[in-house]
Amino acid sequence: MRIFLDTANLEEISRAVALGLIDGVTTNPTLLAKAGLSFPEGVLEVCRAVQGPVSLEVTKEDAAGMVEEGRKIASLAPNLVVKVPVTLEGIQAISVLSKDGIPVNATLVFQPLQALLAARAGAKYASVFLGRLDDVGHDAISILGECLEILEAYGMATELIAASVRHPMHVLRAALLGTPIFTLPFGVLLGLVEHPLTRSGLERFLQDARSVASSMRYPK
Ligand code: G3P
Repeated sequence: MRIFLDTANLEEISRAVALGLIDGVTTNPTLLAKAGLSFPEGVLEVCRAVQGPVSLEVTKEDAAGMVEEGRKIASLAPNLVVKVPVTLEGIQAISVLSKDGIPVNATLVFQPLQALLAARAGAKYASVFLGRLDDVGHDAISILGECLEILEAYGMATELIAASVRHPMHVLRAALLGTPIFTLPFGVLLGLVEHPLTRSGLERFLQDARSVASSMRYPK
C-alpha cells in the first residue's frame, strides 16, 4: 500500500515527507494554480523533495499535443509521471507515451471501462476520482471496487489510485478493498492519525506522569 500526497504545496510536501509516509505526489492544474508553483522550477523542487513518482498533468487536448507535452514533462526529471485525461484523444496519447516507456497516470477515471481501456493502452496508474463521483450521487466505492475487479480479472499491471479523496472514510473503504495507492490531500492525511480519544488519553497520561515525575529515576 502506498500513499501519495495530492498537492502542489511545498510546505505540505516537506511536512508529510518528514512523517516518513509519503511515496509520491500527484498534482493537477488546479492544485498548481492554488499553490502558485513556478514552472518548471517549483515542479522540480517537488521532484527533489519526494522520493517517488510526481504526477504532472498535460494541458493540451489533442493527442499529438498531449504526446509532445508529455515527452517534455518526462524529460524534466526522472521521477515525473505524465498525467493524461481518459478521453479518446487521451487514450491515443497514453498508448504512444506508454510505448515510449514514459509512465502515465490516466486521470479523471469515473467508471471501470475507462480504467480497463487506460490499462489496455499501457497506463502505469489510473486515478479514480471518488469525491467527484459521490458529489453527483454515485456510489464511488462500489465503482472503485468494480475498477479493481476488472483489472484483476484481466491481470492488468496498471495500479489504481484512489483520488479525489475527501475524508478518512474514503480511505478506510478503499483500503478495505485493497486499493494499492491513495493520493491524499494533506488535511485528510492528518485526519487519518488524529483521534480525540488519543488526545484526551495522552493528556491524562501526561498529567499523571507529572505527578510522579519527581520520583522517576532512569538508570544511568
Ligand atoms: O487527485 C485528484 C484530485 O486532486 C481531485 O480532487 O477534491 O478536486 O475532486 P478534488
